[in-house]
Amino acid sequence: MKKIVVIGGGTMGLDIAQTFAKKGYDVVVRDINDAIIQASEARLNKGLDKLVSKGKLDEAGKKAITDKMTFTTDLNLAADADLVVEAAIENLDIKKSIFAELDKICKPETILASNTSSISITAIAAATQRPDKFIGMHFFNPATVMKLVEVIRGAHTSDETCKTITELAVAIGKEPVEVNEAPGFVVNKILIPMINEACDLLYTGVASAEGIDTAMKLGANHPMGPLALGDLVGLDVCLAIMDTLYHETGDPKYRASLLMRKMVRAGKLGRKTGIGFFDYR
Ligand code: CAA
Ligand code: NAD
Repeated sequence: MKKIVVIGGGTMGLDIAQTFAKKGYDVVVRDINDAIIQASEARLNKGLDKLVSKGKLDEAGKKAITDKMTFTTDLNLAADADLVVEAAIENLDIKKSIFAELDKICKPETILASNTSSISITAIAAATQRPDKFIGMHFFNPATVMKLVEVIRGAHTSDETCKTITELAVAIGKEPVEVNEAPGFVVNKILIPMINEACDLLYTGVASAEGIDTAMKLGANHPMGPLALGDLVGLDVCLAIMDTLYHETGDPKYRASLLMRKMVRAGKLGRKTGIGFFDYR
């Protein structure tokens, strides 16, 4: 495993790419247009400069990371990749079209992995001719910090693919947990409905946003409150996960909060748009 292509330079893609680069892998970050890919590279530099100013990284360490990273809009750079990790938006049709194209471009040995939060690995893999080399490699936000990687087998994922990805997760300092395919896997089946409940508490006026978050930080010892966490994840991502849980199970307990849907429609997605439950501007 030498060259890794990350599809999507957003919240997750950039941090996943940085995590691999820090461990010496050659990483290509691919997004859809020049403006987005330039903004992604600028966010990398800003984030690394912050670590330098805090004394957690020196200039040589920063250079070692940036030297390993290439930013592009050209998907053909995936042709000789050993692994592709997709972190584009949480939408089955978009993920399938990305992987159908990658399947044609990449060498036959390339492992294809999705960082999907909730979508069926088997359903995405069906867009390729290599479902045995297709797997879920699910990082957690912020991916540079969070230890867990859920390793998710689709119906046709081979033992060899699963072993390679499990070993890779360990090699980059993460703790892999193997999970069978199920909507939301383990963490998001529990965590995102909790954020959804917090939205409903706010919508029904049970407490203020600050009150809800303080209650969960002090009453459940969570490092951040559920609404701040929704803002960190992105409310569009939370909504897509709730909709997958609801549609896959048919269980009304997974109905998305009307407030969450309204905020997504209003573009109040959380940190990435500067405003969500809290104001980051
Ligand atoms: N990039 C790089 N480093 C970061 C960082 C970032 N974005 N954010 C924090 N850090 C580092 C800090 O530099 C610090 O490092 P040191 O320990 O070396 O000093 C460390 O992480 C702790 O950060 P802080 O002291 O600034 O802040 P904190 O202690 O409050 O931790 C946090 C921040 C790690 C985000 C913590 O609040 C936390 O764990 N929150 C919950 C996060 C969570 O639940 N994530 C999962 C979301 S769900 C998901 O990801 C799945 C999905 O599919 C939607
Ligand atoms: P994001 O909106 O921050 O970034 C998505 C990026 O993908 C954008 O830059 C967008 O331009 C790009 N993109 C869209 N179509 C593309 C294509 N065809 N090729 C290349 N890039 C494309 O989203 P995110 O939060 O980084 O989420 C990405 C994936 O990771 C989703 O599947 C999400 O469910 C999952 N995930 C998110 C989190 C989280 O906390 N945000 C955590 C774990 C997993």
